[in-house]
Amino acid sequence: MGSDIFEKCYNFNVVNNLKIKGFYPYFHKVESVQGPEVIVDGEKKIVVCSNNYLGLANHPKVIEASIVAMKKYGTSCTGSRFLNGTNDLHEKVERKFAKFVGKEEAILFTTGHHSNLGAISSLAGKNEVLITDKLDHASIIDGCRLSFGEMVRFRHNDMSDLERQIVRCKGKCILIVVDGVFSMEGDITNLPEIARLAKKYGVKVFVDEAHSLGVIGKNGKGTGEYFNMMDDIDVLMATASKSLASIGGFIASKAEVVDYIKHNARTMIFTASLPPACVGAIEAALDLIVAEPERRARLIKISKKMKSAFKSMGYDTGCSESPIIPLVVGSDLVAFKMWRMLFDEGVFASPVVTPAVQEGHSIIRTSYMATHSDDNLNFILEKFEKVGKQLNILV
Ligand SMILES: Cc1ncc(COP(=O)(O)O)c(C=O)c1O
Repeated sequence: MGSDIFEKCYNFNVVNNLKIKGFYPYFHKVESVQGPEVIVDGEKKIVVCSNNYLGLANHPKVIEASIVAMKKYGTSCTGSRFLNGTNDLHEKVERKFAKFVGKEEAILFTTGHHSNLGAISSLAGKNEVLITDKLDHASIIDGCRLSFGEMVRFRHNDMSDLERQIVRCKGKCILIVVDGVFSMEGDITNLPEIARLAKKYGVKVFVDEAHSLGVIGKNGKGTGEYFNMMDDIDVLMATASKSLASIGGFIASKAEVVDYIKHNARTMIFTASLPPACVGAIEAALDLIVAEPERRARLIKISKKMKSAFKSMGYDTGCSESPIIPLVVGSDLVAFKMWRMLFDEGVFASPVVTPAVQEGHSIIRTSYMATHSDDNLNFILEKFEKVGKQLNILV
């Protein structure tokens, strides 16, 4: 007889050990809307770990649009986009998104993760190459794993290494895949140099704008607009779960590319489509990104204030240039301890530990919303200073 496949589950002690110490930071229950202040496990906390960058997740217009869509189309489309699950609202929001980012067409997937999985895996076939940044999001890596292509990685934002990898794979069809804003580090991909190399070697560029859409660029169009290089992105991906205050994911590109992905991506064909309420919310949030640029302006102002305050306290904030500001705190244990101490002080934060980060470089990932008040921000700073000193991270 073989051994029990559940053996690893019975020996999985990490979580229990953290729970016993009171340091377990995951799956805590939020019992209110996702604003700057939430009720977690029955207590009020100031949130510093949300991706609700523009604060639209409880905007009355977004909620209303969601209700209207649900009333008209029901709670579910009960099938794949491919078959019975496409309605006119899906197509309307796809056209609106494509127009917003200046691409010929866009297609809406059920999640951002599904967009990367489906688009990347369908684009790279046998003997073709996906060149990815080492710190790309897990969904990009999953997309590469699902594809029949070869995955090659270059050192984070290291353009000499990227060129070396392109040269190594010369002669093959290549797609470079990068995050626009990196989800843990908050730094921005070097699109100007990536685009220069792409032109030099005749390869294509895919940018994941999950954390940049609505956030950077004059009109919130993301990394391409930030560098004034929208046309240098061949395939633009964005999630609807962050600035767009919903769930879902877009892939935008030339009409032929979108059409190909639409008919080949397994996560388009073999899963049910995005429910009407979520699509309605996306449409309203897209309108608000355009109509209320002051939200983005406030978000940028807040991010600069927080980064500079953390730096002057003595925190290492890495190379962040966005509303994602990581604070390097040391070992995994220190990150878990710090999470607990912040939680007890009324701050809800996110620890990021190995293997997501290098050993000894665990972080508390902080991120901001346009709707954080100055009082919220000052409270956050006061608590990070207090706890940082108690843990000897700050001297
Ligand atoms: C860079 C990046 N890409 C893709 C995704 C997946 O998006 P979603 O959570 O909307 O499925 C995420 C989610 O956190 C992300 O950070």
